Amino acid sequence: MASHTFTTSNPLRGRIRVPGDKSISHRALMFSSLAVGESTIEGLLEGEDVLATAAAMRQLGAQIERSNDGVWTVHGAGLGSLLEPHQALDMGNSGTSTRLLMGLLASHGFTATFVGDASLSGRPMNRVIEPLSQMGASFEASSGGTLPLMLRGAFAPVPIRYRLPVASAQVKSAVLLAGLNTPGITTVIEPVATRDHTERMLAGFGATLEIGEDNGERVISIHGESDLKSQHVVVPGDPSSAAFFMVAALIVPGSDLVIENVGLNATRAGLVEALRQMGGSIEELNPREVGGEPVADLRVKHSVLKGAEIDPAFAPSMIDEFPVLFVAAAVAEGATVTTGLEELRVKESDRLATMAAALTLAGADVEESDDGLTINGTGGDLLKGTPSGASVETKLDHRIAMAMAIAGLASQDGVSIDDTSPIATSFPTFTSLLDQASS
Ligand code: S3P
Repeated sequence: MASHTFTTSNPLRGRIRVPGDKSISHRALMFSSLAVGESTIEGLLEGEDVLATAAAMRQLGAQIERSNDGVWTVHGAGLGSLLEPHQALDMGNSGTSTRLLMGLLASHGFTATFVGDASLSGRPMNRVIEPLSQMGASFEASSGGTLPLMLRGAFAPVPIRYRLPVASAQVKSAVLLAGLNTPGITTVIEPVATRDHTERMLAGFGATLEIGEDNGERVISIHGESDLKSQHVVVPGDPSSAAFFMVAALIVPGSDLVIENVGLNATRAGLVEALRQMGGSIEELNPREVGGEPVADLRVKHSVLKGAEIDPAFAPSMIDEFPVLFVAAAVAEGATVTTGLEELRVKESDRLATMAAALTLAGADVEESDDGLTINGTGGDLLKGTPSGASVETKLDHRIAMAMAIAGLASQDGVSIDDTSPIATSFPTFTSLLDQASS
């Protein structure tokens, strides 16, 4: 465990670039591995979660290499030609790798075992086991439907029409990926829109996909057994990583920071809206398209933040950004109320409980309910932690570690984090970029 204390810093200024989008990076590796021929990926996130996907795809038969200029090359063998893995697929901390790969393998007639770290081994997999079983796969999971689990892919998979019971891009993607190697048309109905990188990128790789609307619900259909064509993928910067720097620049007086090349897909950009609603100055410069995704440079200036009631309809478009939003709320003026966030309880940690405990230890005024937090902010004053000297517990959750590091920038005595190592799952350069922006 690598503990570290984060304290008040100089203003954040200049220009920084955050690493590639995690969701898009996983998908780029998986889809390239299914396409015939050589694909190249520029801007791939080289974090542990994505490297777990790369290792798994190699075990399944893809040839994946990184060249010295940072471009990744993938030789795929074509849809349906994945190989049975000889060893367990180690998914580390990564829920996205696990659930998407379970989908992909559900329609390949062989067996695979999935294992992961303590955090991932506590996360619910029944949400994918259920639809994938309907398609013909079978599973032997640990009690409560968790990892380690064994998957027996279907020899003759059947297409389904599946309405998502939870707003989850991972479940949607798992079913669509199973549909890729299934004859006929597999359909997912989404009552609430979630991130749409799978649909966008599959279309880019030449899959036949129809996206419509029925009674306000998104309906996505994929035609099985059509070949994917190799591509050059450019991965935009991750808005979920940029989020920590957005909040840092908003709360540290004197800051004026440009974060370049941030993905602003509407299904991901909810935090920008929420922070603007709180009075945050965030300007979008040079809007453009990168790899089929909207992107801009964000200029963020220190702002007097006011508490707000966050509309639960925003939740899916900022689901990973709540830990750092709670930090902004802790130093805003007045109350911030969040509701409708039960999904946060099944992320890398129970993010409502973990953030409530961490922020309280750091001196914030936090009330936890079943489905959200209410936070009374300091009105711009520094947080004053309890003098116990105890470290906040990050529970193997990268976003808790980074959110509480940002809280440290607005804390009189600093915030000590028990373990910063999980940061490497999604943002290995986080601490050095923070030093760069505030030096
Ligand atoms: C992701 C979807 C979200 C998100 C996760 C990445 C994806 O999870 O929290 O970090 O890449 O599809 P859910 O599908 O569980 O909401």
